[in-house]
Amino acid sequence: MKTVKIKVSRNGVFEEYEVPENITVLDALNYINKTYNKNIQYRASCRAGQCGSCAMTINNEPKLACKTKVEDGMKIEPLRGFKVIKDLIVDRSSYYKKLYNLRNYLQYDEEEKDKEGELLSICPNDIKDLKNVRGCIDCLSCLSICPSRKFSDYAGPTFMRQLARFAFDPRDKGDREKEAYFEHIYNCTTCGKCVEVCPQEIDIVHKAIEKLRALSFKNGYYLNNHLAVRENVLKGNRSVVKEKTPLLEDKNIKEEYIVENEKMRVAFFTGCLVDYRLQDVGKSAIRVLNAHGISVIIPKNQVCCGSPFLRTGQRDVAHKLKKHNLNIFNNLDVDAVVTICAGCGSTLKNDYVEKDFKVMDITELLNNVGLIEYKPLDIKVTYHDPCHLKRGQGIYLEPRNILKNMPNLEFIEMEIPDQCCGAGGGVRSGKPEVASAIGKRKAKMIYDTDADCVITVCPFCEYHIRDSLNKLKSEKAKKENLKDIKDIKDIKVMNIASLLDKVI
Ligand code: SF4
Ligand code: SF4
Ligand code: FES
Repeated sequence: MKTVKIKVSRNGVFEEYEVPENITVLDALNYINKTYNKNIQYRASCRAGQCGSCAMTINNEPKLACKTKVEDGMKIEPLRGFKVIKDLIVDRSSYYKKLYNLRNYLQYDEEEKDKEGELLSICPNDIKDLKNVRGCIDCLSCLSICPSRKFSDYAGPTFMRQLARFAFDPRDKGDREKEAYFEHIYNCTTCGKCVEVCPQEIDIVHKAIEKLRALSFKNGYYLNNHLAVRENVLKGNRSVVKEKTPLLEDKNIKEEYIVENEKMRVAFFTGCLVDYRLQDVGKSAIRVLNAHGISVIIPKNQVCCGSPFLRTGQRDVAHKLKKHNLNIFNNLDVDAVVTICAGCGSTLKNDYVEKDFKVMDITELLNNVGLIEYKPLDIKVTYHDPCHLKRGQGIYLEPRNILKNMPNLEFIEMEIPDQCCGAGGGVRSGKPEVASAIGKRKAKMIYDTDADCVITVCPFCEYHIRDSLNKLKSEKAKKENLKDIKDIKDIKVMNIASLLDKVI
């Protein structure tokens, strides 16, 4: 019999066991108890992915033990974010209590009943939004992994899904969007981790949270800071305020950069931060694309992609911006539209359903046309996966491939490269204290790598990680009684386009 070795946490201490390969974690736990006469405590019922009771942390991710096969070196722990009762059993009572407090039942008026006292029936069309958010098996995986729940008083993804279920039911008369507001729906960074781990594949972010936020916004439950971002875009078509000459207004920036023997021709979608704040990143991107044999067209009248408004429930503004951009980019003769911002890329790819063009992140595009030979660079780097690039677009190998192709560059992974930095979903602007708490954890992970530089492909992450690293530095200096913050290593944060510009 072929076997593998797995480690099981028993009240915080790992014990190693040899178990047959190719069986599920649940069968392995059973095998251990029988074969080694152990009494590991765990929950399970249906053994078929239906009851949700066997969720546990497997190799750092919440998973169903009955649906996961054992692997050599696998680590099995109780579900994180809950009090451990014994071995792999966690206390779920806080979940049920919260569910009860949310009035997890249909609240209807008496006139919703027919003469026999039965609740009036509704048409399938009335409940199409509701269908998308049903099917939860109460495994609590999403709650266990949600960074906003961990670092704030946000109720968490499955509760928002529950509220959405009733908010989208025409018979329900509860004030669900108000409840969502007071349960801190605006603390969600839309990182998508809850969707990634949900065994039922419920798209909590797009089908529950964003729709619930749209209802909340409409009914006056919004954050004032989000209104300020709205003001910016209504005044200048950008989500941020102009501080210096924008990239697209710079007289030295041409409308096209054509290369000889072009391999591809693309239109550059800059995004708000590159246009208004990070002009050098935009200039680097043009040079990098040209160096790879890609001609670049720059439509100067492009506007914000609408992401900050889609994510915060302000659909009216988002719709206007989308229409404007579609008119421009749908009429260009290019092979693709390129982005250097994960948020813009994900919005163009997933929310611009009427588009007539292909969207590519810069890392995807460069890998596609073929990487060139880069100059050596003696530097140690780590990479932060922007949520809207990894989970929003499925891109995480491409940036790593580029980094690994740079001679002399030492690449080191941080502990959880795809953990949210805290900036997304309007949290940095709306709830800075929550963004800061999530960002602190990310900054710590980056420091622990001892890298010279952290690379990413998102200006929002770039800004937020830089702030989080500076805050951590100040805290460290205070703790270690250092006179000068400069005595602590300075880790630079860079868009991959800026790094590539140094080696082409
Ligand atoms: S998207 Fe991220 S922050 Fe929002 S509920 Fe899901 S896991 Fe939590
Ligand atoms: S929404 Fe998905 S991950 Fe969350 S408790 Fe329900 S089934 Fe589990
Ligand atoms: S035992 Fe029911 S989902 Fe695993």
